[in-house]
Amino acid sequence: MNKQRIFSGIQPSGNLHLGNYLGAVKNWIKLQNDYDSIFCIVDLHAITVPQTPQELSKKIFEVAKLYLAAGIDPGKSIIFVQSRVNEHAELMWLLNTITKTSDLTKMTQFKDKSAKEANFESVSAGLLNYPILMAADILLYDTNLVPVGEDQLQHIELTRKLGRKFNQQFGETFVIPEEFIRKEGKRIMGLDNPLDKMSKSASSEYNRINLLDSPEIITKKIMKAITDSEQGIEYSDQKPALKNLLNIFSSITNLTPEKIASTYKDNGYKEFKEDLAEAVVDYLKPIQERYNKISDETVKKVLDNGAARARKLAQIKMKEVKKKMGMII
Ligand code: TYM
Repeated sequence: MNKQRIFSGIQPSGNLHLGNYLGAVKNWIKLQNDYDSIFCIVDLHAITVPQTPQELSKKIFEVAKLYLAAGIDPGKSIIFVQSRVNEHAELMWLLNTITKTSDLTKMTQFKDKSAKEANFESVSAGLLNYPILMAADILLYDTNLVPVGEDQLQHIELTRKLGRKFNQQFGETFVIPEEFIRKEGKRIMGLDNPLDKMSKSASSEYNRINLLDSPEIITKKIMKAITDSEQGIEYSDQKPALKNLLNIFSSITNLTPEKIASTYKDNGYKEFKEDLAEAVVDYLKPIQERYNKISDETVKKVLDNGAARARKLAQIKMKEVKKKMGMII
């Protein structure tokens, strides 16, 4: 029997952080054993906000190396860069024509990012159309399951909507995908603001723990993390900052947050944070060690091979799509 397929991706728009790892990559590593897996570095998405060309190519390479260091096995999974498979942009254009603008303007990510612009007229069309490109990524590969953090749910809902609409209009073509979101790690919050998610684009470095941060930096960031004014370690919505730290601790130890809270209930924040920092350092150490051993040559080979494999699948699907739309005579 054919395996089901998963597809997911990360934007090379900044440093990969613990939120990306716990919300997405950690699940990919497990799932790749049971699913036909495709993991993409979505550079076409990254350029919907301004990027420096030199920095972008460095980041693309860094994300690919981190995929490998985290344990994505190119023997099991396809790893590739989005812009090297033209069919993503091509399918995006076709889906563009069946997408309502109102479905795009209501996206939370669009609202957040466009709010940073001085006025609506100066928001780039790329930012608005971002979710259509994501739908193209997913639909192009007959994806069954999309393992992501909770913030991507709205985009996957739109993907389903576009897939269904296309199928109705032009005949059964696309598999309709489901999201795969695990409770633990689905939304890691910023260390400097527990009400907003940990993010590559947050202006303060104290918002996030990057996967490649040194032990000293990790410790410093955790010791400086905001805690709630009331003392006492407990897992509660009334203490969102502590709740976030307990969620992180739980995700990397596989102990429940309640169990960890009860272990520290008679301790102060300092001891708790010191132990959390040590646990995070130990957790990231093997990834960092592997990262430093992977050669650029290896990354290049993996990406060349991944693009060739992805392209083959994408071309078959695009041929079907264009035929259904009446474009192949
Ligand atoms: P991106 O690059 O913002 O994030 C990559 C993955 O990390 C998850 N994530 C988080 N999870 C938990 N807590 C957080 N603080 C946190 N921050 C990020 C995201 O949910 C995501 O799974 N649009 C996507 C990229 C994309 C994609 C796709 C994903 C493009 N095409 C097709 C899946 C399938 C994005 O912006 O990811």
